[in-house]
Amino acid sequence: MRNATSGGPGRLAGNGAVAARAPAKVNVHLGVGKLRPDGYHELQTVYLAVSLFDTVTVRRAEGLSLTVRGEGAGDGRGPSSVPLDRRNLVWQAAELLARHAGISADADLEIDKTIPAAAGLAGGSADAAAALVALDALWGTRATRGDLATLAAQLGSDVPFSLLGGVALGTHRGERLSPVLARRRWDWVLGIAGDGLSTPAVYAELDEMRAAGTLPDGAELASTEPVIAALRSGPTQALAAALSNDLQPPAIRLRPELRRALRATSDAGARAALVSGSGPTVAGLADDEDTAVRLAAELAGAGVFRTVRAVHGPVHGARLVG
Ligand code: C5P
Repeated sequence: MRNATSGGPGRLAGNGAVAARAPAKVNVHLGVGKLRPDGYHELQTVYLAVSLFDTVTVRRAEGLSLTVRGEGAGDGRGPSSVPLDRRNLVWQAAELLARHAGISADADLEIDKTIPAAAGLAGGSADAAAALVALDALWGTRATRGDLATLAAQLGSDVPFSLLGGVALGTHRGERLSPVLARRRWDWVLGIAGDGLSTPAVYAELDEMRAAGTLPDGAELASTEPVIAALRSGPTQALAAALSNDLQPPAIRLRPELRRALRATSDAGARAALVSGSGPTVAGLADDEDTAVRLAAELAGAGVFRTVRAVHGPVHGARLVG
């Protein structure tokens, strides 16, 4: 196995550190089909990248090491604490890219987290996407965006979208993407309620509710057309009416306080409120930036959320910074 070439874009690798950042996402439509034999569900989802970013900084080293700062930094245990070893997607991204390039995985990896962990915002996926971009520059592996997207899909269903950003329709496991044009900016308030929820647990709860007949069986998925049409250029109310998430009922079943959090977000003046991905983050759609900021201030004082943020989208996917 050879070592990484001394390259990458020299300007970026010159001071020994390369940083990349990647955004959180909200699923404005999340249609979940039946459970497949491989343990995944067929998805039809519309992703929107929003302005909450994690940054991954990488430096030359021997072997791999990982440090985490910010949201979820802790002892690496527990549902909302970010793992500090091979279980972390950033670590896996480094091993995967090194294997792809035929080099040894040598780097210090540092994650600055703003995106809460296990919150339904694809924070771990953002970290993995940022790591791929940063390490490609540090190691000079010269992977194409297509190569990185293929590696991203092996790391997790949401990682290709974290790389791409913007707005996209995701099918299959969610990793097959078609970009969608959005001609306007959308403002949101994100309320992070309590501890993280496990994504597999929320999908399993959905399967149980379907098996018990509490929910339709997922054989027919709702069309993504209304949400895509609204996102392109519609008024806020059109997108509000089109938002949907099949994982919301199981997330509420596992975390009943989410009902109160959704109600509080609507009552404060959001056009609509829905659970983001597998939760427990609540995303409230606001008319404009001023409204999102006002909603964030009001909800921060309401006692239902641990953290509240005003964000907007679409924003870019993983890219180098600095
Ligand atoms: O792809 P990723 O590793 O992020 O998925 C985490 C878990 O979420 C999977 O192990 C599976 O339980 C669930 N999942 C699913 N169907 C999908 C995506 C994720 O059941 N399309």
